[in-house]
Amino acid sequence: MLVNKNFFNVSESYLFSTIAKKVNEFAAKHPDKKIIRMGIGDVTRPLCPAVVGALKRAALEMGDAATFRGYGPEQGYDFLRTAIKDYYLRRGVELELEEIFISDGAKSDIANILDLFAAENTVLIPNPVYPVYLDTNIMGGRKILFMDANEQNLFLPLPDRSVKADIIYICSPNNPTGAVYDTEGLKKWVDYARGNGAIILFDAAYEAYIKDDGLPRSIFEIEGAEECAIEFCSLSKTAGFTGTRCGYTVVPKALSKLGADINKMWLRRQTTKFNGVAYIVQRGAEAVFTPDGQRQIRESIGYYMENAGIISSALSEAGVWHVGGKNSPYIWLKCPDGMSSWNFFDYLLEKANVVGTPGSGFGKNGEGYFRMTAFASRENTIEAMERIKKIF
Ligand code: MLT
Repeated sequence: MLVNKNFFNVSESYLFSTIAKKVNEFAAKHPDKKIIRMGIGDVTRPLCPAVVGALKRAALEMGDAATFRGYGPEQGYDFLRTAIKDYYLRRGVELELEEIFISDGAKSDIANILDLFAAENTVLIPNPVYPVYLDTNIMGGRKILFMDANEQNLFLPLPDRSVKADIIYICSPNNPTGAVYDTEGLKKWVDYARGNGAIILFDAAYEAYIKDDGLPRSIFEIEGAEECAIEFCSLSKTAGFTGTRCGYTVVPKALSKLGADINKMWLRRQTTKFNGVAYIVQRGAEAVFTPDGQRQIRESIGYYMENAGIISSALSEAGVWHVGGKNSPYIWLKCPDGMSSWNFFDYLLEKANVVGTPGSGFGKNGEGYFRMTAFASRENTIEAMERIKKIF
């Protein structure tokens, strides 16, 4: 019996588990201190009334023999796929129902999609970025190349024609920097992928935070992307589903590599390894896309974006360099006095009892930076910023 030795090459624990452990230890030692958590991007606003109503109705249906449902389609119910199809159509993107797969969130699908691709592929990952892309490819034993995201390129790296990659990860709006690609930037990636026979795995988990209407929210707004990209999205940050769990993945039918139909392969993978998202949850998710749902989730997103504004103003006042928070719920700041990311994490926890995420947890280019989320309550956001201004 041999284990997958690639696991020896990933860091001992997942970034956000390490942070949670450190914070819990601090809390146990200092039970009198009020810790404000702005580390993991976890939402705090409740589910909106449209979603709660739909969840309740679906729960009642499940309690009645006449409307009870057992196993559902692994790829999701058509009522939710149709709601998502219409949502894309409003942005001018035409999808077929069979191209939309309902999931329990973007993270699982981003990891699971790798089942479809050979271990020999070379992967291109921005640095810094959401750690799941890197960890899952280390676990799979793939060759990994990095593209530098830094202040010079405004954290939006563009393709380097001399680099040959097969699988490319793009996250826009970006986690952790909050940077967003414009149409021209994404088009360069689409052209590169088509030219190289590569595939783009596009993480659109934060698309709902884009305020600027000219910025693309989906890679499929770019011509030709249906031939080279898969898109992952989630209702976690869009509609407060971090604990409810629902997302979706778009795998275009036009996507075929070396004669393989990727859409069919994903369907085969999902029907074999996944039993679908709970009916009740899918009804709740459907309500997100109704006019009431859209209006109500916009209120919560607006609330978080006001928090982002409060964080940004406080950091400016304290003379701290930062970006993000304009079309994204993340603020990416430079640690003061040349501190390392983890030193700043400890300093902030110790002196202000505020938790953030060390930039180095997102890759080596994140060293010396720090991420704060706008997802805390208003009261806690204001208090955290008061404490931070005091210690600077
Ligand atoms: C984050 O804080 O980066 C996210 O919450 C992680 C995730 O969405 O899985």
